[in-house]
Parts: sequence; structure tokens; C-alpha cells
Amino acid sequence: MSSRVNRQILLIEKPTGKLGREHFRLIESPVPEPKDSEVLLRVRYISLDAANRAWMHGATYRAALEDNAVMAGGGVAEVVLSRAPGFAPGDVVFSDTGWQDYAVLPGKHLTKLPRIEPMTHLLSIYGIAGLTAYFGLLNIGRPQSGETVVVSAAAGSVGSIVGQIAKIKGCRAIGIAGGAEKCQWLTAHLGFDAAIDYKEGGVFKALRSVAPKGVDVYFDNVGGDILEACLPQMNVHGRIVCCGAISQYDGPPAATGPRGVPGLIVVKRLRMEGFIVTDFFGERDKAFVDLGAWLKDGKLKVEEDVIDGLENTPAALIGLLAGENRGKRMVKV
Ligand SMILES: NC(=O)c1ccc[n+]([C@@H]2O[C@H](COP(=O)([O-])OP(=O)(O)OC[C@H]3O[C@@H](n4cnc5c(N)ncnc54)[C@H](OP(=O)(O)O)[C@@H]3O)[C@@H](O)[C@H]2O)c1
Repeated sequence: MSSRVNRQILLIEKPTGKLGREHFRLIESPVPEPKDSEVLLRVRYISLDAANRAWMHGATYRAALEDNAVMAGGGVAEVVLSRAPGFAPGDVVFSDTGWQDYAVLPGKHLTKLPRIEPMTHLLSIYGIAGLTAYFGLLNIGRPQSGETVVVSAAAGSVGSIVGQIAKIKGCRAIGIAGGAEKCQWLTAHLGFDAAIDYKEGGVFKALRSVAPKGVDVYFDNVGGDILEACLPQMNVHGRIVCCGAISQYDGPPAATGPRGVPGLIVVKRLRMEGFIVTDFFGERDKAFVDLGAWLKDGKLKVEEDVIDGLENTPAALIGLLAGENRGKRMVKV
């Protein structure tokens, strides 16, 4: 194994301001050998996630990232060599492979996946993105037919699926996204009822005009000003699904939180609840059945944004934070 080269991208230093190419370095190392209970993996697709940037702020639901270590990140990989029970060459797995060609990981850190085509669906609709949209909206937001659901980062991997599931459940779906082109795509291609371009400004007013009867479920991917604009427009007993806060990730933390917390939570009797997708992994089989059926019936469209080449992974993440992507961004290694 060691005659082969393993290209690895290191996070050389955690950013204090905006993330840039200078925070990463590509190195070449020998391909490592698995020990007992470990598996050698060939990484096929690396998932690009807003969370990659959030992890740089310190320990959260996962350990803090270390400087000068291989950049962490989820990936779909094939088993090359196994010294762990239950895994054989050719098996397809998901794990925190990191940004590299090959990874050696303990078998207990791998999730075995079915071999499906296209393999990219294992990161989009059947991956963290699809499951986050499914469980976040249905288990936390609990939308009822006829209600109004608003989602931010609506043209991204999670948001684009949230709006479509809201429609499947008989709701009105409103997306908030950056740019007229993304907004047009949400309504014309994905079937959202309305879309608001937050880069134009005036989100509060725009939302009032497309949701005059108020908002029942707000699926929040961004936090900050957009959360603040949605809060006063929530209906009594509305639900705010706290999925992420991408507006706060790429820079120092905001000095103040959104106005209206907790006052509006009290008077409108809102439920504002966070979750991590892994909380619901025990119910994954049901999600796969539903998502697969909606996809097959043409009720759900999957958008994938595949960038070629491991060396392009840093630029792909920086671009995602700047809103370059539509749907699920990933790198083909
Ligand atoms: N709780 C969980 O278990 C869980 C799991 C997965 C993801 N998440 C969260 O879900 C959210 C989406 O993540 P993702 O990885 O799927 O990324 P994504 O939605 O595919 O891409 C991120 C999008 O966020 C938008 N954005 C960037 N900066 C923004 C800002 N300042 N204000 C508003 N929008 C901004 C950009 O689109 P525009 O062009 O529209 O700006 C960008 O395309 C993140 O908050 C992430 O942390 C949570």
C-alpha cells in the first residue's frame, strides 16, 4: 500500500476572520496501513457542508478541529482492505473520512451504505442533507396541511428539500435565498409558492407581502437578521426549527442575538427547538422509504453540485459559504 500516494488537505490554521485558501495546504503522504479492527478506504465523494466552517470555532457536537491536521469532513468511500469484522473490499461506507484520497478508520466509525447509482445520492437525498430536511421539518416543525412553511438558505442542500417536503405535506412553501436566479429556480423548478431574495434587503416587508396570514413553521438555516425578520411574523403556536446559523459561521461571533427572543416566544407561545440530524438516526429506514418514494414519483427533485478534484475542496467550501452552490455540493475525489 505504502508505494501509493495519499493526497491530503490540511487545515493549517483556524481562521480568525473569513476562511481563505491560505488556511489550507495540500501534502502527499504514503497510503497508511490498517491495523487490527481498522479499514483502509478509498474516498470517492467528499461532502461540503456549512458545518465544516462551524467546526473551526471549537468543540460542538464533535471535537474541535486541530491545526495542521487533515481537514475533517464526511465522505462516501469504498473499502480497499479490511481488518475489521463486517467489512469487505468493495463495500460502500459513509464516515468522517477527512479531505484526502485514502483514510484508515476503525470499523466502528463506519456506516455501511447500499451501493446505489448515482453514488452521489448517498450524500444528497439519502445523506445528511436529505435526512436533516426530513427529520427537521417533520419531527421538529410538524407542519400541518394548509400551514405556511418558510425556509432560509432555501436553494441549498437542506433548504431545497425542506420546501419540497413542505409542498408534499400540503403546505405553502416560501424560500429565502440569495439572488434572483436562485429565487426563480425555487419557484419555477422546485415548485415553491414564493421566494424572497434576501440580498435585495427588506426581508421583513417581502415576507409580509407573500405570507399575509403569518408563518406557522420557520425552518432556520441561517440565524441572524433573517431569523429576526421572521420572528415577529410567526403565528401563535408556531414552530421555529433551529437547524443552523450559517450567517454566523464565517467570521467572529455576532455581538448580539436577534431581537424578539424571548419576548415574542412568550407572547406567541412559540416552540423554538434545535436538533442534530443524528438524534433521529434510529428512524432512518422510514426516512429512506419516504424520500425514495417521493423521488421515484417525481414529487421530489434532487439538485447536486459536483466539483471535480480533491485539490479544489478548499475553494469549494469557501464558495459554498459565499452562496455559489445550488443544492448539495460535493467533491469527486
Ligand atoms: N442540525 C443539523 O443536524 C444540520 C445538518 C446539516 C446542516 N445543517 C445546517 O443547515 C444549513 C445549511 O447547510 P448546508 O451544509 O446544507 O449548506 P447549503 O445550504 O447547501 O449552502 C449554504 C447556503 O447558505 C447560504 N448562505 C451563506 N451565507 C449566508 C448568510 N449570511 N445569510 C443567508 N444565507 C447564507 C448560501 O446561499 P445564498 O446564495 O442563498 O446566500 C449557501 O448556498 C447550515 O446552517 C448547516 O449548519 C444542520
